[in-house]
Amino acid sequence: MKEKKFITTPIYYVNDVPHIGHAYTTIIADCLARLYRLQGYDVFFMTGTDEHGQKIEEAAKSRGYSPKKYADEVSDKFRNLWDEFDISYDAYSRTTSDEHIKTVQKAFEIMYAKGDIYKGEYEGNYCVSCESFFPETQLVDGEFCPDCGKPTRILKEESYFFKLSRYQDKLLKWYESDDNCILPKSKKNEVINFVKSGLKDLSITRTGFDWGIKLPKSLNETKHIMYVWLDALLIYPSTLGLLRDEENMAYWENTIHLVGKDILRFHAIYWPAFLMSLDLSLPKNIAAHGWWTRDGKKMSKSLGNVIDPKEVANTYGLEEFRYFLLREVSFGQDGDFSQRALISRINGDLSDDLGNLLNRIIGMSKKYSNYEIESKNVMKFFSDEMNESKVLIKNALDVIDEMATNRYLEEIWKILNLANFSIAKYEPWNLIKNNQEDKALALVAMVTNLLARATILLSPVMPKTAQKIANALNFNIDEKSYENLVQNGKIIDFKASDCELLFKKIEEPLMSNPVATNIKEEKITNNISIDDFKNIIIKVGEILECENVEGSSKLLKFKVDLGEEKPRQIISGIAKYYNPNDLIGKQICVLVNLKPAKIFGHLSEGMILSAEDGSLTLLSVMNGVKNGAIVG
Ligand code: ME8
Ligand code: MG
Repeated sequence: MKEKKFITTPIYYVNDVPHIGHAYTTIIADCLARLYRLQGYDVFFMTGTDEHGQKIEEAAKSRGYSPKKYADEVSDKFRNLWDEFDISYDAYSRTTSDEHIKTVQKAFEIMYAKGDIYKGEYEGNYCVSCESFFPETQLVDGEFCPDCGKPTRILKEESYFFKLSRYQDKLLKWYESDDNCILPKSKKNEVINFVKSGLKDLSITRTGFDWGIKLPKSLNETKHIMYVWLDALLIYPSTLGLLRDEENMAYWENTIHLVGKDILRFHAIYWPAFLMSLDLSLPKNIAAHGWWTRDGKKMSKSLGNVIDPKEVANTYGLEEFRYFLLREVSFGQDGDFSQRALISRINGDLSDDLGNLLNRIIGMSKKYSNYEIESKNVMKFFSDEMNESKVLIKNALDVIDEMATNRYLEEIWKILNLANFSIAKYEPWNLIKNNQEDKALALVAMVTNLLARATILLSPVMPKTAQKIANALNFNIDEKSYENLVQNGKIIDFKASDCELLFKKIEEPLMSNPVATNIKEEKITNNISIDDFKNIIIKVGEILECENVEGSSKLLKFKVDLGEEKPRQIISGIAKYYNPNDLIGKQICVLVNLKPAKIFGHLSEGMILSAEDGSLTLLSVMNGVKNGAIVG
């Protein structure tokens, strides 16, 4: 019987439409699913949507829909996109399905019976006029409601809690015992440090709104609904039918969760703790990838710079888009989408290295041997190249264990480069001229065998392109050819045929850039005198240190050298536009005679100046000047 594997993407919230980030996760998962199937695994691949919670309830309300109708609509958008993208999912799961709701209630009962759930009081910052709790990090200036701007107050709400604290040591043991449980390893350390710093029990029910799963009847509790993350994470076992029947347990034993780094904490800490409480085994890998930005900037609806994956795929080709996403960034690192980068991958990697190789093979085989590619002399002349390809294949398969699709593709490209390089090195046209026809034909067969191996390995990333190559050279892409060529290094014959160009070169970006839609024309009403301006002191300073303010997603804390005795500390709300490390050493402009203020508990002595046009950029100077130089 085949070994089983279970691969999951996050289930995406239905309060937003799919964008490039969602496509990225789903395409990595699809690529893995296809590769494992080729390797002979019985794969179950799930994706879906996360449909409960206050955010969704409000998004629906603002459109005048019932939450369910709204969720149906957006969930279909995701599903249609995955269908258009030929994503090979086996299940599309929704948290509003009856099966899922039953599973969540069952899980709650099990955890409750085990003594892991107790009733207590949740204490937090509450906005009375919005009737809502807000986490500390969302409050404006540490106090005011992010929605209506009124002051919040500390309030207590009845809530059920999960005894997360009980699992701290067990979690740490797990991280230690299983090398690859959290990938990439750099992220694993962050998780370990977080857990070591102490885990508080987790509030897992909410009151005050309705759009969520009710507690099990046995608890006789109508006020509470499940916390959306408990509900959402349970989609994984509920999709396989676990906690209802045990049939699919074998998939569960081999689970890979793919997520973005934004939700690693939920998956790497809460989720395994829930699973331990439920006596279900823990996943094999929780793999977190990095964040996509656009032209160096964060994507967001309000900036109007969100990338629609459909537009990219329609413009540049789905296969090209898939290749770009999986090749461009190291797994776990952030990546930047720009058309220039995509075009350079298409023209270089795809058209020159891959497409051209196929053309040359077809051309040579046509000229030398009427499209017949016979391999009988490959090992006689080219055993070194064939042996080298075995090493490259092994490397490719090793790195995929850590989800490093970029390195996987790099290794595949080394195989293609070996083929291209060999043609240049041995010059088959000269071999023919010098009566070494045997060697020339063996060369063509050698490079074709290399291309076939690369193509089979590439097929999970670019299934249609791989199939075109396989058709042109008359070989199959299936479990058997994977075993023969990739695993066992078998050398085979081919019969070539003419085929269309695989990739056309692209000269210019094909998509128009989104215009910043919200540049505000500031009306200049009252002119000021030069004396008024003299009251404003702006100086050039150099950023010595910059870091995120703990607990805030918006704020950065700077140490700026303004040519004074001591650097100043300045807090600035620009965390979503800049990476702290990128700013160190930069010269910027600072309003220095602003009254010092405490922001989020930190002293801020000045204001860093920036320009806004929907996005944001810091003001700098054209040539380096002394720190402390006056701007005026
Ligand atoms: O968090 N770059 O759903 P979500 C890369 N419902 N990946 C991105 C991205 C970007 N800019 N933006 C989104 C949720 N993603 C929960 C999940 S799972 C039990 C519940 C991807 O719609 C990435 O995979 O906010 C990220 O983790 C996910 O979308 C978040 O999707
Ligand atoms: Mg999100």
